[in-house]
Amino acid sequence: MRDIDEHNITRAVLARLAGCPDPRLREIMSALVRHAHDFVREVRLTEAEWEQGIAFLTATGQMCSGKRQEFILLSDTLGVSMLATALNNALPPGATEATVFGPFHTGDAPPAASGSDIARGAPGDPLFAQIEIVDLQGSPVIDAQVDIWQADAQGLYDVQQPALGEERRARALMRSDAQGRLRFRSVMATPYPVPTDGPVGAMLLATGRHPWRPAHVHFLIRAPGFHPLTTHLFRDADPYLDSDVVFGVRSSLIGDFVRHDGGTAPDGSRVDGPYYVLHHRFVLAPSGAAVAASA
Ligand code: BEZ
Ligand code: FE
Repeated sequence: MRDIDEHNITRAVLARLAGCPDPRLREIMSALVRHAHDFVREVRLTEAEWEQGIAFLTATGQMCSGKRQEFILLSDTLGVSMLATALNNALPPGATEATVFGPFHTGDAPPAASGSDIARGAPGDPLFAQIEIVDLQGSPVIDAQVDIWQADAQGLYDVQQPALGEERRARALMRSDAQGRLRFRSVMATPYPVPTDGPVGAMLLATGRHPWRPAHVHFLIRAPGFHPLTTHLFRDADPYLDSDVVFGVRSSLIGDFVRHDGGTAPDGSRVDGPYYVLHHRFVLAPSGAAVAASA
């Protein structure tokens, strides 16, 4: 095909994709081309703006490393991650809702026994968490694998602190006991800004957006026979609950973090300053229960 112009180019590219042997790849690529072309037409993109867009995407890629994923951050801040999470995790009523995974999970969280101090020196007011994992009928989910990770009182994850090297703080891999329960001591989470020293930070600034996430603790809960649950617990009354930069807040995920002014903590230890107690029950849906939500 020759004499391509703004009227026939979309058809021409789609025709070129018609022979794609993988039907799903053909569907995805064709939709991507249609939407990209419609976008260029809708905003009547100038060549200078297109160059600026390419420079932005190039810088985003160049910012990525083994420890930094600027493309995930871009997807998160544009709501694409939360949209994919919502579409793929429409669970039956009663099941705990999922939310964004984020870039700070590591595959090497230290295994910890129930009752452990998983802060391991991370600064913050002590948090004592008592977690229960049940199925939709309320029966305990025994021996579930529970991955926990969070930022400290300075709003930083261990992997954001080069001085810590490979030391892991405020994260752990735990297992539920015969009652589906586990306990841990950690530190109270605080709100934190997503990293703003890269192109995504520049995009947030240029578009008049703040970079903050409300305080939260991440959980990834896996157990045979159950749909894996990637979620957070948020702290109530956080100033960013309604403007989370990555659109991850769900009302059902606001945890009951109760502040105490010091005294004897749930693990029997004496705490002089303020501490927090969290009780939470996660409800897992069976494997295969996630239905594709309608777009
Ligand atoms: C997080 O909660 O760890 C997170 C999620 C999305 C972007 C940045 C951080
Ligand atoms: Fe986080």
